[in-house]
Amino acid sequence: MNKPIAFILLAAAAMTACGPRVPQLGKSSVDEVVDAMTLEEKARLVVGTGMAGFSGENAVVGETRNLVPGAAGTTYPIARLGIPSVVLADGPAGLRINPTREGDSQTYYCTHFPIGTLLASTWDQELVEKVGEAIGNEVLEYGTDVLLAPALNIHRNPLCGRNFEYYSEDPVVSGKIAAAYVRGVQSNGVGTSIKHFALNNQETNRMANDARVSQRALREIYLKGFEIVVKEADPWTVMSSYNYLNGVYTSENPELQSTMLRDEWGFRGMVMTDWFGGKDAVAQMIAGNDMLQPGTDKQYEMIVDGVKEGRLDEAVLDRNVKRILEMILRTPRFQGYRFSNKPDLEAHAAVTRRSATDGMVLLKNDDAALPLSETVKRIALFGCTSYDFIAGGTGSGNVNRAYTVSLLDGLKQAGYELDGGLKTDYEAHIEAENERNRPDTTNRYAMFLPRPRPTEMMIPAARLKSLAEANDAALITLGRTSGEFLDRKKADFELTREEKALLDDVCRVFHAAGKKVVVVLNIGGVIETASWKGCPDAILCAWQAGQEGGNSVADVLSGKASPSGKLTMTFPVRFSDAASSANFPIDVTANMDISNSGEKKNDVKNVDFTNYEEDIYVGYRYFDTFGKEVSYPFGYGLSYTTFEYADPEVKEEKDAYVVSLQVTNTGKHAGKEVVQLYVSAPDRAVANKPEKELKAFAKTRELQPGETQTVTLKLPKADLASFDAAASAWVVTPGSYDLLLGASSRDIRAKLAVEAAEAKVPVHDLLKPEGKIDLLERSGR
Ligand code: BGC
Repeated sequence: MNKPIAFILLAAAAMTACGPRVPQLGKSSVDEVVDAMTLEEKARLVVGTGMAGFSGENAVVGETRNLVPGAAGTTYPIARLGIPSVVLADGPAGLRINPTREGDSQTYYCTHFPIGTLLASTWDQELVEKVGEAIGNEVLEYGTDVLLAPALNIHRNPLCGRNFEYYSEDPVVSGKIAAAYVRGVQSNGVGTSIKHFALNNQETNRMANDARVSQRALREIYLKGFEIVVKEADPWTVMSSYNYLNGVYTSENPELQSTMLRDEWGFRGMVMTDWFGGKDAVAQMIAGNDMLQPGTDKQYEMIVDGVKEGRLDEAVLDRNVKRILEMILRTPRFQGYRFSNKPDLEAHAAVTRRSATDGMVLLKNDDAALPLSETVKRIALFGCTSYDFIAGGTGSGNVNRAYTVSLLDGLKQAGYELDGGLKTDYEAHIEAENERNRPDTTNRYAMFLPRPRPTEMMIPAARLKSLAEANDAALITLGRTSGEFLDRKKADFELTREEKALLDDVCRVFHAAGKKVVVVLNIGGVIETASWKGCPDAILCAWQAGQEGGNSVADVLSGKASPSGKLTMTFPVRFSDAASSANFPIDVTANMDISNSGEKKNDVKNVDFTNYEEDIYVGYRYFDTFGKEVSYPFGYGLSYTTFEYADPEVKEEKDAYVVSLQVTNTGKHAGKEVVQLYVSAPDRAVANKPEKELKAFAKTRELQPGETQTVTLKLPKADLASFDAAASAWVVTPGSYDLLLGASSRDIRAKLAVEAAEAKVPVHDLLKPEGKIDLLERSGR
């Protein structure tokens, strides 16, 4: 017998005697499992299982049919190695899966929690963590493994169609809120995917747009939030974005996905693409974008061929496979968790109802119009949105909820009497308008796009007069909705002619009758307020507050809860005031390459490429530094009560400054206050720094009238640094730094100073723009 044959026979005999020797995930080491995999199995694992109903060539909101119908994606199972398929599902406002299943009478509704912008507007990391816990529980109990959230791209421009999913124009708010969300969700033993890494700040041509940004703006503004979450909350996964960044697809860029994310920030998890993002599967593998979702045969072939033809080192593939296996090992599905398919939806409805009130921002409240006085019993409810409340945005940020409480229903349940005639007329009007705006069902993307809002109904003067006589107050809701694929139009920022007329007419007639008018904004992104805010007595920005929205707003209007949200973005006077307004696609509709089949183009500004000329001057960093008038500043929000800040103090520790102050409720209602700590650097003129930058924030507990709380804020010394691109280092210039304690960026209540020593932390010189970006002149603006 020749030697090799003898060996094979011996090996076979050994296998029979000791059982199968094929390594099994969880029983054998990950390395052993990887070693046992064929090239084809590895290539299958790094691309997902594909998506039902789509050829795999289109940018779509994910939907699979196996395991958990309606989930966005699944990983490839390899039974012989004990590798199960695990489930990935959206999204930021709650789990997005199909609510019903064929041949099954049970329903699978999920709770629609408040949108990201509202959660951030709470400025309350503990509360966001609680909301995250509840969302994560639905992820777990519905048999999903990784939630494709949170989304924390910067609100660079008010018109970005996905701002509602995102948190803020400020990276510290974005990072801290996202970290709290991740901690909450992951406390259930399920994963998160922080997205979209990075620079997906516009939807127009999102799969082919090249964001051209300076290294400094990247480090200080656009990547900072991601850095905070990675370092503070250890998310299981990161989702790369669709766009190019300085000439390279983010999913194909090793500087971003490996050097910065892993080597510098210490990320230990796995990176996946956004759905059908990027083009070159080999480049994605090399970059450290471990998994391609939802996965196509073409990608599989590119990877197998890449290895066979020597363009992809199999060791690189092994590295990515290993990261995926390590993620799978952590999942409830791998660990055999027996999910119930019955999360406690009632308890979660209570969580969303309560948390939403803390993120609502009271913009105006003349003569304490709110809470509604006890004498207000009958309310005339105007605005189509009052009857058709918006729970959240569309696309993958949507949630298949069982219901949405309208403002009408919320007020009714709170004991108010609503004008019945108005209700009948509005409902008929909305039905007719919705019929007119019926979605085009032949367009498969239409189901993901927002339906145009009904045009406001005009109410004749005589009718208004009798309504003012018959009711104690007027409430008007203005609504806006948006979602992925499209940015908002400029007209969506402005009020329509009909909305303005409605506001004017109602205010004039009700004020003449001595009755108050309250405006509720049921919006997902910033709108124009400067031209009309003088007209009503009170304005409540309720955002899109989830499925209990009407109840949450009624809780605030009635005084059951005091609004304690503050703006995480600036409300400019005019759209053109936003620093990015000249470098953002405005009213572009024709350029969505949804098949991502085109070549990279460089010719059309703001579509093929977008220059971030405003650089680090995003939001209040721009408005406050250049003394621009705003309608409502960053950090702003009223309460039913008032707060006094006293005894500010700063103590120096080895690596941080610890700032403390006393916050006292000096008014008549219980309430919570958000305290903001800004830093103003000594070398602003020379080093081109913003007038102030937020470095920390805290929210008090609910304080009763007269009650005081000591608020403590920690400022790591390293956070005083700015990024010096020439030196490729974070640099603290020595000198005296002002620490500003504010109720908003424009309401600084106390000032302290610290003397900082020089410091310099060199980092990799990465992500350089290809050409020169013309930065907007400071002086000229
Ligand atoms: C979105 C992602 C989402 C994915 C899966 C994409 O269109 O950009 O945010 O997670 O779809 O549904």
